[in-house]
Amino acid sequence: MALDVQQVILWLIYLFGSITFILGLKRLSHPETARTGNLMAAVGMSVAILGTIFLYKDTNGEKLHNHIWIFGGIIIGALVGTLTARRVKMTAMPQMVSLFNGMGGACAAIISIVEYQKYDFTDSNITAVTLAALLIGGVSFSGSMVAFGKLNGNVSDKVFPGQSVFNMIVLLIAIALGVYLVVYPMQNIVMLTLMITMCLLYGVLFVLPIGGADMPVVISLLNSFTGIAAACGGFIYHNQVMLTGGILVGSAGTILTILMCRAMNRSLLNVIIGNFGGNSTAATQAGSEKGNIKEISISDAAILLSYSKKILIVPGYGLAVAQAQHIIHELEMLLEERGVEVKYAIHPVAGRMPGHMNVLLAEADVSYDRLLEMEDANAEFGTTDAVIVIGANDVVNPAAKNDKSSPIYGMPILEVENAQNVIVMKRSMNAGYAGIENQLFYEPKTRMLFGDAKASLQKLVSEVKAN
Ligand code: TAP
Repeated sequence: MALDVQQVILWLIYLFGSITFILGLKRLSHPETARTGNLMAAVGMSVAILGTIFLYKDTNGEKLHNHIWIFGGIIIGALVGTLTARRVKMTAMPQMVSLFNGMGGACAAIISIVEYQKYDFTDSNITAVTLAALLIGGVSFSGSMVAFGKLNGNVSDKVFPGQSVFNMIVLLIAIALGVYLVVYPMQNIVMLTLMITMCLLYGVLFVLPIGGADMPVVISLLNSFTGIAAACGGFIYHNQVMLTGGILVGSAGTILTILMCRAMNRSLLNVIIGNFGGNSTAATQAGSEKGNIKEISISDAAILLSYSKKILIVPGYGLAVAQAQHIIHELEMLLEERGVEVKYAIHPVAGRMPGHMNVLLAEADVSYDRLLEMEDANAEFGTTDAVIVIGANDVVNPAAKNDKSSPIYGMPILEVENAQNVIVMKRSMNAGYAGIENQLFYEPKTRMLFGDAKASLQKLVSEVKAN
């Protein structure tokens, strides 16, 4: 059999694409290499797409010819994607990830619908994989759309009695329809339409009851679904790079989901049915514990910080909201110039998405050596003169350690109460995402500095300069 040179080139391109995905993913594990890792994977993907467009041949030996449609779609998609990604605020990143992930799920589902209608059903394995891609991709699409709506504030949590059972029935019907279509291999558009409806319905019902603070976990889970659906697409087209990419996304999403659950000390099942951080039980606990709070003035805070030997900064969601990353870096440099040792204590789920604080601080050119992971930071609080908690709440809440009734009980926290002084910067006594009271604010060594984090830090920087 003569060797098809174009086919060999395409295989090599796919191999190149797969290697760049793996190396790129590896580089994403550290902030210093993440940018090049991202670029590397993007180059691999672009080469793989171009290779497919110009070299791929279907089973009849035909190449893709509808180039105007293909490039039209690519240009529109690239424009929309670039503009959205450039404009999106850091705090709205989870919504954007959810939206884009939903598009991936929709692609996998649409591919399945198109391919199903072309089959002669001689290979039941391929039919099964196609319908699996439809199921998983469909759930990922509708689930991601609901997640997007929830994070954007357009959709609220919806729980009704017996919802878990109802959801399970919808999922089982969708699976049963898929099995029927494999066992009775023929074009059955009515059954296919019913299956699509059930998949989409299940995605919506699955995400609707999940509490607000758990959305990043759900998005990561849906992300892994999209990866698996794309991997199924790789099987359908015998496309190795699609298969590798899908498996990498699927497994990375699954690992991330597990890591996030661990960081919050919760099981995935508890995330899915727990309704944590929404508007329900947790919120009612706010205000149940009281005490006296002490405030600190900007000038007293400036004196305390300037005369400290060692300071740890705890950034949280509020720092991202206030976009105070540049000004905190300025304060850090100012204090370092005065001989104060300054580091940052990073909680794994501070903010609203994995690595949120790392990305934020990297944007402000904060040196990576200054970032301490939770375990290392906890070992240092005891020898720290002052901790500045900026827009963080749940991740420093001692209730996680000592209040069994708290919804965050068991979540590892930054033990800032072990430092000599604690300054908490936030706008009010409002709760954080879990909706619960924080006893730290009432501790004798804690002093509150109320106001928007950026505005307070700007005043603090001026005051430290004046000292
Ligand atoms: P939160 O507990 O949400 O607290 C943020 C605090 O920032 C609020 O108490 C708020 O108080 C304050 N704030 C808001 N805007 C501010 C501004 N402009 N200036 C100053 N302060 C401001 O944040 P956290 O401690 O970072 O905890 C993250 C939460 O998200 C945890 O419950 C975690 O489990 C959850 N979560 C995170 C992830 C990931 S991957 N990051 C995943 C799942 C769940 P005021 O309104 O009084 O200002």
